[in-house]
Amino acid sequence: MAETILLTGATGYIASHTWLALQAAGYQVVGVDNFSNSSPEVLKRLAQLGGQTPVFEQADVCDPTALAQVFAKHQPQAVVHFAAFKAVGESTQQPLAYYRNNLGGLVNTCEQMQAHGCKRIVFSSSATVYGVPERLPLREDAALSAVNPYGATKLMGETILRDLGAADPSWQTACLRYFNPVGAHESGLIGEDPRGTPNNLMPYVAQVAIGRRPRLQVFGNDYDTPDGTGVRDYIHVLDLAEGHVAALRFLLSGPESITVNLGTGQGYSVLDLVKAYEAASGQAVPYDIVARRPGDVAACYADPTLAQQRLGWQARHTLARMCEDSWRWQRMNPQGFEPS
Ligand code: WQD
Repeated sequence: MAETILLTGATGYIASHTWLALQAAGYQVVGVDNFSNSSPEVLKRLAQLGGQTPVFEQADVCDPTALAQVFAKHQPQAVVHFAAFKAVGESTQQPLAYYRNNLGGLVNTCEQMQAHGCKRIVFSSSATVYGVPERLPLREDAALSAVNPYGATKLMGETILRDLGAADPSWQTACLRYFNPVGAHESGLIGEDPRGTPNNLMPYVAQVAIGRRPRLQVFGNDYDTPDGTGVRDYIHVLDLAEGHVAALRFLLSGPESITVNLGTGQGYSVLDLVKAYEAASGQAVPYDIVARRPGDVAACYADPTLAQQRLGWQARHTLARMCEDSWRWQRMNPQGFEPS
């Protein structure tokens, strides 16, 4: 019988794409979400794409009783923990909400795992744990620091899991440090659906391309980068999803734990992305150069060698493909999942 994998935050952007990849890899998937930052419509799309009714429980990962019931009912062999708030700016305004939800949710999930004999967890971490990169490309042994409460919850999450494994070696953890996830499933049926004004570049560019927003604001062109605008390691969400399948396979096939970068190793500037999006969509993306955004770094991109060596995984999709898939999602769902 194939292993049962529990996904927390299951109807979110990265989790929903990972759900399909895990199903395709032959795992039994159970999703948990409280819809605090996602839509129940995702479940209908997953049913369409996966050809089976998703096994789903609505619950808050911060609710011990509700989560205990999910574990008792489904008895998962491993957990992929996505559930967390993820807006850097919001985290500086609401630090307590971020610490309670992101850390409280992780601790509660681990306590329920322990109580139900499930000790394998894949943790959604972030390149934000590197703070301001001292050297590029970033390797997993680079210095770590938190430059905002969101980043602090990711860094503390990794610490919690490391300490758990040190206290009880039967725990196995995989911390996946995402760089900049973008794009959408090739069907255009699921994709990134930020609420309100998108914080991140690609969804904002997509909304300019479709005419939902008049112009893009480019946050500074005076960085020490080839064209002066910020450079990031954009990774297709489908590649990211496959990275989770590879990490799970690693945990299920041996005794070890691991922390890896999930990036392409290729940096692109804001203007590179704008040009690529215009080519993919055939739409103009007008922009203005404005002041830098506080907290931004000039450049951040991965050394993806360790994931390739230890997980046998590497990103395959090009920037053009990321933009094409993002544009198809945006065109087919101009108002995202929720009809306006
Ligand atoms: C990318 C580049 C901006 C918007 C953040 C989080 C990180 C992770 C991914 C969760 C930068 C520029 C952006 C805009 C712009 N999130 N930009 N105009 O900041 O690298 O990473 O999202 O895990 O933790 O920190 O991504 O997409 O916000 O910015 O010029 O309207 O685009 O300055 O150079 P970032 P981003």
